[in-house]
Amino acid sequence: MIRSHGAGAVTEADIGSEVVVAGWVQRRRDHGGVAFFDVRDATGLVQVVADPAEHPTVADLKMEYCVRVRGEVRSRPAGTENPDLPTGKIEIGVVELDVLAPAKTLPFMIDDRTDVDEAVRLRHRYLDLRRPRMAANLRARSRVTAVIRRTLDDMGFLEVETPTLINSTPEGARDMLVPSRLRPGEFYALPQSPQLFKQLLMIAGVERYFQIARCYRDEDFRSDRQLEFTQLDLEGSFWERDDVLETIEVVLAAVTREIRGVDVPLPFPRLTWHEAMDRYGSDKPDMRFDMEIVDLSDLFPKSEFGVFKNALEAGGTVRGINGGPQEWSRARADAMTERAKELGARGLVWMVSQDDGSLRSPVAKFLDEAEIEGIKSRMEVSPGDVLLIAADRWRTTVGVLGGLRLDLGRPNTHDDLAYLWVVDFPLFEEDEEGAITFSHHPFTSPTSIDEMANDPANAISNAYDAVLNGVELGSGSIRIHDPKVQRQVFEILGIDGRTAERRFGWFLEALEYGTPPHGGFAFGVDRLVMVLQNETSIREVIPFPKTQTGLDPMTGAPTWVDEDQLAELGVELSRESKMRRDDPDEDGSEESG
Ligand code: AMO
Ligand code: AMP
Repeated sequence: MIRSHGAGAVTEADIGSEVVVAGWVQRRRDHGGVAFFDVRDATGLVQVVADPAEHPTVADLKMEYCVRVRGEVRSRPAGTENPDLPTGKIEIGVVELDVLAPAKTLPFMIDDRTDVDEAVRLRHRYLDLRRPRMAANLRARSRVTAVIRRTLDDMGFLEVETPTLINSTPEGARDMLVPSRLRPGEFYALPQSPQLFKQLLMIAGVERYFQIARCYRDEDFRSDRQLEFTQLDLEGSFWERDDVLETIEVVLAAVTREIRGVDVPLPFPRLTWHEAMDRYGSDKPDMRFDMEIVDLSDLFPKSEFGVFKNALEAGGTVRGINGGPQEWSRARADAMTERAKELGARGLVWMVSQDDGSLRSPVAKFLDEAEIEGIKSRMEVSPGDVLLIAADRWRTTVGVLGGLRLDLGRPNTHDDLAYLWVVDFPLFEEDEEGAITFSHHPFTSPTSIDEMANDPANAISNAYDAVLNGVELGSGSIRIHDPKVQRQVFEILGIDGRTAERRFGWFLEALEYGTPPHGGFAFGVDRLVMVLQNETSIREVIPFPKTQTGLDPMTGAPTWVDEDQLAELGVELSRESKMRRDDPDEDGSEESG
């Protein structure tokens, strides 16, 4: 037996007895000819005391050496206890000390105080994961998946694995492709989600399915996006929307209780997509603070101020937010206007409410008494408040103000949790080229088939999102189970009959065999753990994530492969790729260190 106790599990009850602990040397201090060091393992840490004259090995100990200590547990001398530590009242006096494995000089300190460059952390992720905060994140993640499994098992769900070498599942990202050796020139796609397989499981009679599924999407990185990530994916038959929402609420409440120890009030509040946009300028509003968008349009029908008048005449709107008291300066006003422009605005009107009740603003001179009074009462202005007003198309205006609202009001920790459902999403949206595309995915059912056929731009879908603190946690929908409707949707999306048959014929055929009405949901496990653990990037809760440019600085992936391997796969590199390979200095991936 290597050890008798976990380092963090030695207690005052052990005083006077001999224990054996094993772990890493955390910190070493020498005081008056006596050496002190902490031994840390997965259970915590304990202080060890040794006399170097008796135990010369102590002199060799360096940070993160892996050691084994046999010794006697005793009380710490009065005044040297550490109340912050579960083992803070005791220490171990060394009887025997072995070095199990030495450690090289560390690239960074194993503690939470050190601010280390992320590429360096990822290059030595195995050391980074020794840090208490990262170790806690790993443990939280494991508890989250355990609770998910327990909760859904209790509710009669079947956990089913679906394949990862498949055909394309359109979720709006690029596919990650894997070449086939047995069929050179042909490719598998990695699943963007298990969407079609879970629908096939409904056709197969599973009725209640879930999976903690790896998904792969070739899309631009952000703090809440990775190439590969994990979903809790779920589907049920003979379900309507509220069956899905209630099930997800039970799961999220159980997870929140486990990690935060609090009971989330159920049901979660709900907003329609239109309300969310109108009041918060976002389809994933952060409900931890108010600062709602206020419609001012009706105050300016005959305004002297051209910006407002023109926007209204063009069918647009004038809206604002009351940002509350803010440090306001010329520079801040310019920065805010720049930010508004980044968000799509043509300009931004700002006003600062003065102690005498007037509004200070570069455009005040264009506004009459009634307009000023209207703004003040509509926006519930108090002295010192800063008002920001934009005038444009509805969608642009609310989007701009929604972005500024977040900049001004978003709390910078996730201490409080605000869950929300956003329902009644539009069925379709316009892509960057103005073409019609699906807003959730092409298997989402419309609320009205007539509306979908006659007025697709305004058609509402049976899709819904879960939002937590302004983060899109997950999405789902009631699906199309009628193959005729599914074909109709493909057609509206500009996928002609032949293409639909070629790409999705197998799925359309499956729908022909008595498909039950069904619907489901998927939420991002990484994002959920991120918020619950009060992190701002999912990379902090993914054991081995990629950098912003898709690199793994530790293993060096992605890498070049041998010509032979490529030939077997029937794949040839382009001239540009070969040049990059043969001249690695041009490669720009110095991040791999
Ligand atoms: P959707 O595409 O909205 O829906 O994805 C569901 C949730 O998965 C998470 N997610 C991601 N997390 C990290 N990195 C990414 N690149 C990434 N992309 C998505 C988000 C998101 O809300 N099949 C449907 C679900 C359904 O209809 O049942 C789907 O995948 O948290
Ligand atoms: P201009 O007439 O473009 O000089 O704009 C006069 C003021 O109105 C400036 O402070 C602009 O930032 C602001 N402004 C211009 N366009 C808009 C708009 N669409 N919404 C709100 N403010 C605007």
